[in-house]
Amino acid sequence: MTSNTTHFLTINKFHVSFVLFFIVLSIASIVNGSGNECNFPAIFNFGDSNSDTGGMAAAFVQPPTPYGETYFNRPTGRSSDGRLIIDFIADSFGLPFLSAYLDSLGANYSHGGNFATASSTIKLTPIILPQLNGQSPFLLGIQYAQFAQFKVRTQFIKQQGGVFATLMPKKEYFHKALYTIDIGQNDLGGGFYRVMTIQQVTADVPEIVKIFKINVKALYNLGARSFWIHNTGPIGCLPYISLKFIFAERDQYGCAKQYNEVAQHFNLKLKEALDQLREELPQAAITYVDIYSVKYSLFSNSAKYGFEQPLVTCCGFGGEYNYSTTVGCGQTIEVNGSQILVVPCENRPKRVVWDGIHYTEAANKFIFDQISTGAFSDPPIPLNMACHRTSI
Ligand SMILES: *[C@@H]1O[C@H](CO)[C@@H](O)[C@H](O)[C@H]1NC(C)=O
Ligand SMILES: *[C@@H]1O[C@H](CO)[C@@H](O)[C@H](O)[C@H]1NC(C)=O
Ligand SMILES: *[C@@H]1O[C@H](CO)[C@@H](O)[C@H](O)[C@H]1NC(C)=O
Repeated sequence: MTSNTTHFLTINKFHVSFVLFFIVLSIASIVNGSGNECNFPAIFNFGDSNSDTGGMAAAFVQPPTPYGETYFNRPTGRSSDGRLIIDFIADSFGLPFLSAYLDSLGANYSHGGNFATASSTIKLTPIILPQLNGQSPFLLGIQYAQFAQFKVRTQFIKQQGGVFATLMPKKEYFHKALYTIDIGQNDLGGGFYRVMTIQQVTADVPEIVKIFKINVKALYNLGARSFWIHNTGPIGCLPYISLKFIFAERDQYGCAKQYNEVAQHFNLKLKEALDQLREELPQAAITYVDIYSVKYSLFSNSAKYGFEQPLVTCCGFGGEYNYSTTVGCGQTIEVNGSQILVVPCENRPKRVVWDGIHYTEAANKFIFDQISTGAFSDPPIPLNMACHRTSI
């Protein structure tokens, strides 16, 4: 009996210290945060030019030099002078930049893939490229269908071994990956360019958001669990809207007020849809990222963040916004009988708008730095914890 008790006590003591050891260990990991980091092995991205790393260029036409000049020293299909937010996201996890799904040359999908293409929409639009004011044929639902096919075919190819195996994601990565989405700007902006009124575009928002929701659910049903979803930016501050609607009412910073209000309306409905999705998809960690506020701060408070002339295009031509709908960055225009090449401004690190529609690398870096902390997330989760449903 006595020996038995002693024996029991020994185990118990061992047990207690074992538990204590783990308590200390978990406190330590909460303090330095490392215990909760998600270590995403891959990223799958969906969207438009804000995150296209070469899809549209592979399918249609490559943007000319000086696109890409600041970082890549050549055009890479990105709508910027350098890196995009998605590049900074990949880099922050130590992952390579994402290859575009549509790129058949030198693509490497070992740590994810990018289904975004420039001018993509959520909802099918009546005008598709290459028609004037046309949108990308690779709308969100098509991007999803491409991903569904990608998921199956990459595993088949991986089984062939050798070099093929090193180019394809591991099977478990689809479950563990971060799924990033940044789309919606063209559902609004494209509508305005097709001369839809503000009221018409606003009335379209519920349908647009409904389709967005369907696609997130479809990704979930294929095993996606961690979603990092950007809302849409202040479109009314961008020269392509400012110039087209030159008589639109301006806010105190010179942005076209009503066009920004449509973006905010879309964002509100998107946020509500994501709240519903969190209820409907019990295993999904869905983080809504208020990129609007960060982008807007670049226009409203540019000097504070080291930027200047926020409403003016760096690589553009003509007028108050240094932007023209007839000649773009890297193209030539004939003025007074001489050819003028549209080249970038000199102070790129201080400029916000690259080509009238898209942001400079400097702006993208600023936006990434702001959103990755979680300060603009709902729930307030930093990027590297986006596999968690709630903040810790
Ligand atoms: C693909 O990328 C991964 C990760 O960067 C690398 O380890 C692998 O060697 C690459 N495959 C080829 C064929 O370059
Ligand atoms: C073209 O000529 C007009 C009239 O001479 C002049 O006002 C304008 O500044 C010229 N434009 C450029 C880009 O040189
Ligand atoms: C406007 O664009 C031209 C190129 O066409 C560039 O040289 C110039 O620096 C730009 N101006 C501003 C104010 O950004």
